[in-house]
Amino acid sequence: MSEEVRKGREGFATGLGVLAATLGSAVGLGNIWKFPSLTGTNGGAAFIFIYIISTLLVGLEVMISEHIIGRTTRKNAIDSLRSLAPRQVWWLIGAAGVLSAFLIMAFYTEVAAWVFAYIPRAISSALNTTDPAVSEKAFADLINSPWQSLIWQWVVLIWVAAIIIAGVSKGIEAMTKRLLPILFGILVIINIRSLTLPGAAEGLSFLFKPNWSAVTWMTVLTAVGLSFFKLSVGMGTMITYGSYFRDDENIPATGVRVMLSDLLVSLLAGMAIFPTVFTYGFAPDAGPSLLFITMPAVFSSLPGGPFVQNLFMVLFFLLAGIAATGAMLSLFEVPVAYLVERLGWSRRKATISTALGLALVGSTAALSNSLMANFKIAGKTMFDLFDFATSNVLLPVGGLFICLFVGWRWGYAALEKNLTNNGTLNNRAVVRAFYFLVKWVTPVLLVVVLLNGLGIIKLG
Ligand code: PHE
Repeated sequence: MSEEVRKGREGFATGLGVLAATLGSAVGLGNIWKFPSLTGTNGGAAFIFIYIISTLLVGLEVMISEHIIGRTTRKNAIDSLRSLAPRQVWWLIGAAGVLSAFLIMAFYTEVAAWVFAYIPRAISSALNTTDPAVSEKAFADLINSPWQSLIWQWVVLIWVAAIIIAGVSKGIEAMTKRLLPILFGILVIINIRSLTLPGAAEGLSFLFKPNWSAVTWMTVLTAVGLSFFKLSVGMGTMITYGSYFRDDENIPATGVRVMLSDLLVSLLAGMAIFPTVFTYGFAPDAGPSLLFITMPAVFSSLPGGPFVQNLFMVLFFLLAGIAATGAMLSLFEVPVAYLVERLGWSRRKATISTALGLALVGSTAALSNSLMANFKIAGKTMFDLFDFATSNVLLPVGGLFICLFVGWRWGYAALEKNLTNNGTLNNRAVVRAFYFLVKWVTPVLLVVVLLNGLGIIKLG
């Protein structure tokens, strides 16, 4: 085990440290880019409603399960499952997690690339416009250019790999945690602006007044997948985080706090974007471009003149880049730790190989809007395919098996011991409710949603 990991095993000193670290992985482009984009393409409020139910009944249970597995064994995903169930195949959950992390990074680095590319553009005032045609063209120029898409992705990869090789991940994570409240503050300021725009009422009714007619099983699967993606669960990352938790950490309470904070950041991003969409005539279902075309408009309508507007715009993309970095570090660590701990590679070799592999595989996602726009598998570009395969298949399947492990293989006694911290917490009702959820409710929901969403069976 590497020096850094061993040091990390000393664990988080305070409850607040645990919350902040977990949020550092959870809060990222999932909140500010993916949540608004999917809400827009899936019809708004009904999707948000299903999403909230999914985080409550699925995402949260998987997160708590991963945290207790990690804290009990104090090991990474694969080794913890191997040690809890020797000579059984549960460790495959961790192995699938390595694949998920790699495939998520293959397209996540491209979205981060757009964020990074927007920082110099915001500085140069090129984005000071409320005209949809101008901001749509600015974004299209970026993603339609093969070189720009590739080079910015390489910048992102080098940035993340350099942080890991320099052994300063812990330091950067600490910085990310400190900066997240500033991102939160900016989102609140943008909300004040967007909620006083003329299209605010229309934006809010899109966000909060459900129209159920457009909901399909695929909508439900997408919402469930988003809850996995946003909470960074279903692939074992949170097992590793749990391995650093203190023995007296109240795991269910931490899980609820992470879930609520993550949800709040997403809703703030939604409330920043949709009033702007309806005020200036953007398309709510623009998809992945939504964040990039609407944010310039909301900043350009801030009072105080171009300097203030630019300042906030630059700060926003900078902080979005930092939030994305926190999430990417937790993703990148998964294949790197695997190569180091299983194959005995040095951290440097493991990191460089992972980065090179990502540059290769990720380039197909980077070029999905230009050279490879017509290269489709199952009707999807490579960017969409990586996204779909991870959020809508690998993470929910991983989560299903994590719940089955905790609910069925472990059983009540072990669960009670873990959730009450050996009887020191007086939370019997929580333990009983969690046991019922993780054993029955979450797995049954996941099986039904997966089978229907993927079209394997047809219920209604
Ligand atoms: N939760 C992160 C986000 O919202 C993405 C992520 C997924 C990170 C899975 C780690 C593991 O951006």
